[in-house]
Amino acid sequence: MALLSVEDLKVYFPIKGGIFARTLDYVRAVDSVSFDIEPGQTVGLIGESGSGKSTTGRAIVGLSKITAGKISFDGEDITKYVGKNRSSYRRGVQMIFQDAYSSLDPKRRVLDLVAEPLRNFEKLTKAEERRRVDELLEIVGLGPENAIKYPHEFSGGQRQRIGIARAVALKPRLIIADEPVSALDLSVQAQVLNYLKHIQQEFKLAYLFISHDLGVVKYMCDHLLIMHRGRFVERGGRADIYENPTHIYTKQLIAAIPDPDPEKKDDSMARRARINQEYETLKTMHYDPNGRVYDLRAVSDTHSVALPE
Ligand SMILES: Nc1ncnc2c1ncn2[C@@H]1O[C@H](COP(=O)(O)OP(=O)(O)O)[C@@H](O)[C@H]1O
Ligand SMILES: [Mg+2]
Repeated sequence: MALLSVEDLKVYFPIKGGIFARTLDYVRAVDSVSFDIEPGQTVGLIGESGSGKSTTGRAIVGLSKITAGKISFDGEDITKYVGKNRSSYRRGVQMIFQDAYSSLDPKRRVLDLVAEPLRNFEKLTKAEERRRVDELLEIVGLGPENAIKYPHEFSGGQRQRIGIARAVALKPRLIIADEPVSALDLSVQAQVLNYLKHIQQEFKLAYLFISHDLGVVKYMCDHLLIMHRGRFVERGGRADIYENPTHIYTKQLIAAIPDPDPEKKDDSMARRARINQEYETLKTMHYDPNGRVYDLRAVSDTHSVALPE
C-alpha cells in the first residue's frame, strides 16, 4: 500500500481586483495532479520556478489550502485532517525548506529549535529532552556543544543540517524536502544530500524531493515527476527520465543540467541551443491550444508523458 497517495489535487489562488475586490480569476498553481509515494521511496518533483512544486508540498502538509482532491496516508483519507496540529499525520509528515535561516527562529537556541516538535508531541524530562537533541545533532554531524548556540552562529550548510535534525525529531515516515540544497554552495550540497540519504536509511524514510534542477536529484530519486504550469508533463523511473526524456519540457530540463567537465562546455552549450530551438518549434504540439499541459498517457509500465493522442 502506498504511504502517501495524492489524487486529483488542485490548489487555486484567487486573483482579486476592482473596487469590490471581487475574484476575477484564479492562479491554477496545482491543477489536477495525482501520485503515490511508497514507504522508503524517494520521489523527485522537478520543474522550473513557478511550476507549482512548493504549493504541492505545502498542500500535503496543510500550509496551502486544498481547492479539490484527496490525500491518503497509510490508506486512510486524511484530507480534512491535513494541517491539524496534533494529528498523527502531522507527526508522520515533516517538511524541510530551502532557506533554513528563515524557517529557524533566530532568537531561539538550537536546543529549543530541535526540541520544539518533541515538546509538542511528547512529555520528556529536561534530561531526556537534552539527550534526544544531542542524538539528533549527532546524526547530522554536529557536536552537543552546538545545542546552546543560535542559528546565526552557523554556516548555511550547518543550518540546513539543524533543519534536518528538527524534521526527523519525531521519526516521521515522509519528509517533504523543498529545494533543501538550492541555496548552498556546490561543495556543501553534496554533504547535505549525504546526510539526507544517511537518515533515510536510519529512519526508513520516504522523501518527496523538490528541485528545479534535474542534476541535483539524479542519484537520489527512484521515481520522478516533471511539473510545468501546475501539471505533470512526464513521470517515470530514473532511466525513463534521464535516458529517454520524451516531453520537450523534460528535454529542456535535461539540457540545462550543467556539465561538470569544462572540456565539454561547448558541446553542452550547443546541445542546449538546439533543444531550446526544438522547444520553440514543438511547443504547439506539446501543449493544447490554451497552453495547458495535456493529460498523462502511459508509454510503458513505468513511464507516462503528457502528449495528445
Ligand atoms: N499564496 C499565494 N497566492 C497567490 N499565488 C501564489 C501563492 N503561492 C504561490 N502562488 C503562485 O502559484 C504558482 C506556483 O508557485 P509555487 O508553487 O511556489 O512554484 P514553485 O515552487 O514550482 O516555484 C506561481 O504562479 C505562484 O506565483
Ligand atoms: Mg518553490
